[in-house]
Amino acid sequence: MTDRFTREQIKELNELQRKYFNENVDIFEPPLPKGVPARLKATVQASGLRPGEKVLDVGTGTGILIPYILKYRPSEIHACDIAEQMLERVKQKFPRVITHLGDVSGLPLPDDSLDVAFINGCFSNILDKSKSLDNLHRLLRPQGRLVISHPLGRNFIVELKQHTPFHLDLLPDEADAKELLERYDFEILEFRDEFAFYLVVAKIRKSNKETAAPSPRQFGDWVRIQ
Ligand SMILES: C[S@@+](CC[C@H](N)C(=O)[O-])C[C@H]1O[C@@H](n2cnc3c(N)ncnc32)[C@H](O)[C@@H]1O
Repeated sequence: MTDRFTREQIKELNELQRKYFNENVDIFEPPLPKGVPARLKATVQASGLRPGEKVLDVGTGTGILIPYILKYRPSEIHACDIAEQMLERVKQKFPRVITHLGDVSGLPLPDDSLDVAFINGCFSNILDKSKSLDNLHRLLRPQGRLVISHPLGRNFIVELKQHTPFHLDLLPDEADAKELLERYDFEILEFRDEFAFYLVVAKIRKSNKETAAPSPRQFGDWVRIQ
C-alpha cells in the first residue's frame, strides 16, 4: 500500500477528486439517507470523545459529522479537505471549526496535538495511506484514537467504484485493517463490518513514536485557510 502511486500520480488523482468534490458540494449536504444520522451518532460515540478534547475530521466534506462531534463539547475541532469548496461550506455552517486545505498526509499540525481523528466516508479516497497514517500517528497524543468509518458500509464502496471518475480503494476487512493499522502502531479496539455500517476504532500505542520535526518539504503543498 506504501508506494502504489508516484508523487506525480497522487497529485493528478487528487486533482480529479478535488474537481469532482468542488463541483458536487450540495450532493453531500443533508437530508442524509435513512439510518445515516444514527450511524454518525454511533461513530462519534464509539470514539469515547470527552469534553475538552481536540478533534480532527479528515476529509470533512460539508462537515456532516461535525454536529455529532459538537455534542461532546470538544475544545477544538479541526477539519481538513483537499476541496476548497467543501471547506467554504464548513466555514459558513461552523465558523468556529478550524479548516485546513490539503491532503491529510501532510497536515502540518504539531506533534501530539489531537485526541481523536475521524476519517468518515473518506478512507477509500486517501491515496497515500502510508504517509497519512504516519502523519496521524504523529498528530495524535499517546492513547489518542483513530476512527475509520463509513455510514453506508463496505459494499457501498464496491458499487460506488463503478461510477466515480477518480480512484477509490475498497475498505479493508478485519484482517487487513489489523495488519495495516498495526504497521503504524495503532491497536484496534472495535471493528464492525455490517450491511450498511463500517467502523474501526483504534488506539494509538506510541510505543516507538518518532518525534523528529517534519521537514518543510513534506508540508510544502499546504495552505492554512483559517
Ligand atoms: C465522500 S466525501 C466524504 C465527506 C464527509 N466526511 C462525509 O462523510 O460526508 C470525501 C471527502 O474527502 C476529501 N478527501 C479526499 N482525499 C483526501 C485526502 N487525502 N485528505 C483530505 N481530504 C481528502 C474529498 O475532497 C471529499 O470532500
